[in-house]
Amino acid sequence: MVKMLAKNLPQTSAPARRRRSSRAVPRPFLKWVGGKTQLLSTFESFMPDTWGRYFEPFVGGGAMYWRNGQGESVLNDFNSELATTYRVVRDEVEGLIEALAEHYYDKDYYYEVRAWDTSRMSDVKRAARMIFLNRTGFNGLYRVNRSGRFNVPFGRYTDPLICDEENLRACSKRLGETELRNEDFEVALADADDGDFVYLDPPYAPVSRSSNFTAYVAGGFGTDQQDRLRLTLKALDHRKVRFMLSNSDAPGLAELYAADGWRVDRVMASRSVNSKASRRGKVGELVVRNY
Ligand SMILES: C[S@@+](CC[C@H](N)C(=O)[O-])C[C@H]1O[C@@H](n2cnc3c(N)ncnc32)[C@H](O)[C@@H]1O
Repeated sequence: MVKMLAKNLPQTSAPARRRRSSRAVPRPFLKWVGGKTQLLSTFESFMPDTWGRYFEPFVGGGAMYWRNGQGESVLNDFNSELATTYRVVRDEVEGLIEALAEHYYDKDYYYEVRAWDTSRMSDVKRAARMIFLNRTGFNGLYRVNRSGRFNVPFGRYTDPLICDEENLRACSKRLGETELRNEDFEVALADADDGDFVYLDPPYAPVSRSSNFTAYVAGGFGTDQQDRLRLTLKALDHRKVRFMLSNSDAPGLAELYAADGWRVDRVMASRSVNSKASRRGKVGELVVRNY
């Protein structure tokens, strides 16, 4: 995949610039693999009408939150670069816009920024780097190697929008009512209580060996984590917290959830994560609910 990209890389110029989008309604400010944008209306029809607090413990790009997470909300993700970026968008959006305006679309520059040591950078600069890499890297992928270093190759785009000021400000405003956490999902859900609603979109349970794309965070999300997730759902159910989970239709999973007494619906989603074109296309996805 990397070789093919290198052959097709565009010639780029490097003007630092910002652009305004025409909408002020907040939309995801990051592209995220596994993002749920295309399934949103299907999922909406499964949501309860009202809730206390809205929780999203695997927020990623937050497609559901941006569309449906009204009122008091708690967002969480284990990925600390991502969590920092959300916090900066909420609390330091003007500084972020300034920092983002310094970035530009260019292959050599991309690899330079990718190699920066983030441990010495301010949160604002880290967040700007994260958004820049997300807007200009291959497919908006977030993938790290074993030592936790971001390793996505440069992406081929025509004039990508790196700094969408207006949307960032709209996102910042919306996040004002939102608590942000950077924990494991189990810890992040420990205080969800009667009346709250939790939407969970974990890294997929592998449907086959070759489809095991789980490296959003070093360490991945394997069978042990899927088992722990089921126990966490049981604990939520016990506390009368309503939950809705989306997961891959991996062999045996639907039966396990049904045995726990939960409603299981199957929906179809288009997937483009697989590196082999022949394996992309429609895949089944499960929606599991305790209400
Ligand atoms: C499928 S993605 C979520 C996509 C999201 N629904 C969207 O619309 O973009 C799964 C997310 O779970 C996060 N994650 C992985 N392991 C986790 C853990 N143990 N606790 C919390 N979050 C975790 C990853 O960093 C990733 O952002």
